[in-house]
This record gives sequence, C-alpha cells and structure tokens, in this order.
Amino acid sequence: MKKGKKIHEGKAKIIYATHVKDLVIQYFKDDATAFNNQKKSTIEGKGVLNNRISEHILSNLSQIGIKNHLVKRLNMREQIIKLVEIIPIEFIVRNVATGSITKRLGIEDGTVLKEPLIEFCLKDDKLGDPLIAEQHILAFYWASKKEIDKVKKMILRINDFMIGMFRGVGIKLIDFKLEFGRLKVNGKEEVILADEISPDTCRLWDSITDKKLDKDRFRKDLGDLIPAYTEVAKRLGIEDGTVLKEPLIEFCLKDDKLGDPLIAEEHILAFDWASKKEIEKVKKMILRINDFMIGMFRGCLLYTSDAADDSLRVDLVGRRIIKK
Ligand code: TMP
Repeated sequence: MKKGKKIHEGKAKIIYATHVKDLVIQYFKDDATAFNNQKKSTIEGKGVLNNRISEHILSNLSQIGIKNHLVKRLNMREQIIKLVEIIPIEFIVRNVATGSITKRLGIEDGTVLKEPLIEFCLKDDKLGDPLIAEQHILAFYWASKKEIDKVKKMILRINDFMIGMFRGVGIKLIDFKLEFGRLKVNGKEEVILADEISPDTCRLWDSITDKKLDKDRFRKDLGDLIPAYTEVAKRLGIEDGTVLKEPLIEFCLKDDKLGDPLIAEEHILAFDWASKKEIEKVKKMILRINDFMIGMFRGCLLYTSDAADDSLRVDLVGRRIIKK
C-alpha cells in the first residue's frame, strides 16, 4: 500500500492518503496529551502498543458483527483503515464513576453505576470538547436520530463485549471513549466504529488491586505508562514483537566476565568449544525441546478449572492459569 500525503494530524494519530480512494493509513504517534492539550509529552513506544491493542480489540469486535474501520495492521505503527466521515461527537461510556464526572457532579470516585451511562461531548478542541445533551446533537444536525439510536445499540454491545474480554484477563473496564463515522456502502450510508480503542481511550483497573493500567498514569503523573500498557497487551494475549518463520538458534559463549558474548557457529569450531557432530546433535535436540515447550505452554493456557470462582491463580504473562 503506497503512503500518500498527510490528510489530518490529531493529538495522537496522523491520517495519510493511499493510492486506493476509500482507504487511508492511520499512524499512531508517541505523543500523549491530557486536559485538552494543556499537558503534553512524548512517551516512546506508546504508539506501537496502542496500534497493537486497538487492532486486537477492533478485529475481535468485527468477529461479533460490530462493523468498524479497521482493514488490517500494516506494521508497528500503522494500520489501513476505511476512510469515513467522522461524526463530531465523542461518545463516553461509563460503568464506574471516576474522572470528570466525579468532579462535575460531586459523585464519589469508584461508584458503580447500575447500568452503563452514555455521555456525549462535542468533538471540538478549541471549545474543550464540551459535554452536550442528545437534543443538541439533533438541534444542530451533528447526527440524525436514527444514527444516534444505531450508535447507542452498538455502544451497549461493545461495552458488554469489552467488559467480558477485560474481566477474563483480570481487568475492570471503568469507562472509555468511542468515535463513529459515516461510510457509503453500495450507495447506502452506514455508521461504523472508527478511531481507536486503547489504554489511551479507556480506563482500565486491575481487578484485584485497582492498579491503573491506562492513560491516567500520564494524566496523574503515576509513571510507568509503558509497563502498564504492555501489561494490558500481554494479558490480552497480544504477542510481543515479530513472529519468526522458524525458530532461530543463537550461540553465546558462557563467560560471565565477558558478559556471555554472542558468537557464530564458526567460533565454536575454531576454538574447539564443541565438535561439529556435537553441535548438530544439540541443534536437533533444541528443536525437539522447543516444539515440546511451545505445545506445553500453549496447552496449559486452555485449562479450565473447578477453582475458577476462587482467587487461586498464577499469573503467567497475565493469563489466569488454573489447576485442572
Ligand atoms: P473523563 O472522565 O476525563 O471524561 O474521561 C472519560 C473516558 O473517556 C476516559 O476513559 C478517557 C476517555 N477520553 C478520551 O479518550 N479522550 C478525551 O478527550 C476525553 C476527555 C476522555
């Protein structure tokens, strides 16, 4: 896919044209902003994590029939998306009261809502994304009644799905922000989910400790944002880095004083650290051990348990391993 000129630059992402008319490239930056751009920083690696996490969530949502703009992830920071006309509303979904609503309405932080609350904000940085009522959306033709009703139905399904997905990996979905866009399909206009869903746009708390695993680490100067986002990615089972076509065996000289330096097979032979026959034998054994270990670890993640409703658990890359 050929990357064309920049069409739009937001606070956390850039949109580029492509040579295909209705497709664009969404690039995830490392920039972090809060409080309507008053607080700014660059956090190396954030864009890469958000790209992966958003890809994971949006592709899972399409599997349950929630149409969205994601076509495919291209690389570490970019994805191909469908070009939509963004509805100028930020849809905020709250399951637990925290953040702006607690200050605005004097609600106690952490209050569990009896059902999800959907709030609407006008997407306008200059005005500070003000909270609006549904009537404002209709009065100023920002969206039609039919579109809002459709969006509200999608939001409730997205919320149910995401609560379940995060609960399964020991995370509470406190609140999040969604954006939707209009798309022409066979001459008919459709509303689909757009933008991103990531720890930048959600509040995610560890189920047991309430540790914040989202952008509040930046907003509230809690530090360790990258480890928190990485934890979310790992718990969702998003693999780290590039999957190799086949296992790669590297050799290091076992010498603490030299820091176990990387060597080539030729070094092993040149200095008689092992014979050719020994190396060949070891390589065969390594491939068998690797196959066995991949199988074993993958298999144990699938165990279900009679201990599922107590808190007995072992965390292995964030997944709950339960005794069979
Ligand atoms: P708030 O409590 O600050 O209103 O935020 C509610 C949720 O919406 C929270 O998960 C953060 C997310 N959010 C965004 O993604 N972008 C925004 O511009 C704002 C204000 C909130």
